[in-house]
Amino acid sequence: MRHVANLKDLSATDIQDILAKAAEIKESPGDFRSMLAHESLAMIFQKTSTRTRVSFEVAMTELGGHGIYVDWASSNFVLSGIEYETEYLSRNVSCIMARLLHHSDLLKIISGSQVPVINGCCEKFHPCQALTDILTMQENYEGDIKDAHLVFVGVQNNVSNSLSLICDKLDIQLTLATPEQDDNGESQDADVREIIKTSTHVNHTTDVKAAVQDADFVYTDTWIDMQYFINPDNAEENEATLKKMLPYQINKDLVEGSICKIMHDMPIHDNYEITPEMVRDPRSIIFAQAANRLHAQKGLLWWVYHEAGNL
Ligand code: CP
Repeated sequence: MRHVANLKDLSATDIQDILAKAAEIKESPGDFRSMLAHESLAMIFQKTSTRTRVSFEVAMTELGGHGIYVDWASSNFVLSGIEYETEYLSRNVSCIMARLLHHSDLLKIISGSQVPVINGCCEKFHPCQALTDILTMQENYEGDIKDAHLVFVGVQNNVSNSLSLICDKLDIQLTLATPEQDDNGESQDADVREIIKTSTHVNHTTDVKAAVQDADFVYTDTWIDMQYFINPDNAEENEATLKKMLPYQINKDLVEGSICKIMHDMPIHDNYEITPEMVRDPRSIIFAQAANRLHAQKGLLWWVYHEAGNL
């Protein structure tokens, strides 16, 4: 059975097929209204979400299937073993998508499941977001996407990890313009570290200004993960992070003279990683990127159900 835990197990062809199908379904949605007729996707959420929940649920509806929201805190996942609850779920639904705090718990879900599992974002990876991002770049770049230069500005995290994996596979130039240290270590992944060290397509710099001048796309994400951002116990640490990160803020000065498109996976924290005027700048494609979550999800669901040999 093929799961989508982190994109590591998908080939470049798998990813290109998903992106091509996403674009095809976006162009002609009427042709795919019954593609997932009578299929049910369980959507498990241990963390908050707007886009991941809505886009998967709408995708299932528009493809003729059904998405079931499973709130971790009010389900019996809090009382019992993850594998037991997952095995039950997988006997009643045909696919599971899970947004969890820890990748190790996603692996437990995969181990207990009799149906394919999609990672809806954990502390290490956000594969659905990375697929969306490349789809959005393809729509906003004239020419071969392999000639584009993507610059990720901010903190190395789950989003930059998935971008590193996908850009390495698709031969897209990615520069991580971030401080040397990543976010309190929890997103660190040995394979991604190796890619950053050795890939001819992925590199790291602390010189954010120079990186942005040469960028076709400048991408940022929150500097502090949601659960830490809203926790008063983290106030002092958050303040120190915000001060250290200010040179990496996407603002008017940073992108002065650049024709780059501006990207953000949302949710946005105004005046931290990006200023409000840059969110609304004519170069911003942030809302088109967010809306593409729906289309990328459809391409991914097509692959999981029809191409991965799972059913
Ligand atoms: N980008 C993203 O995953 O958005 P949500 O956290 O709202 O799902």
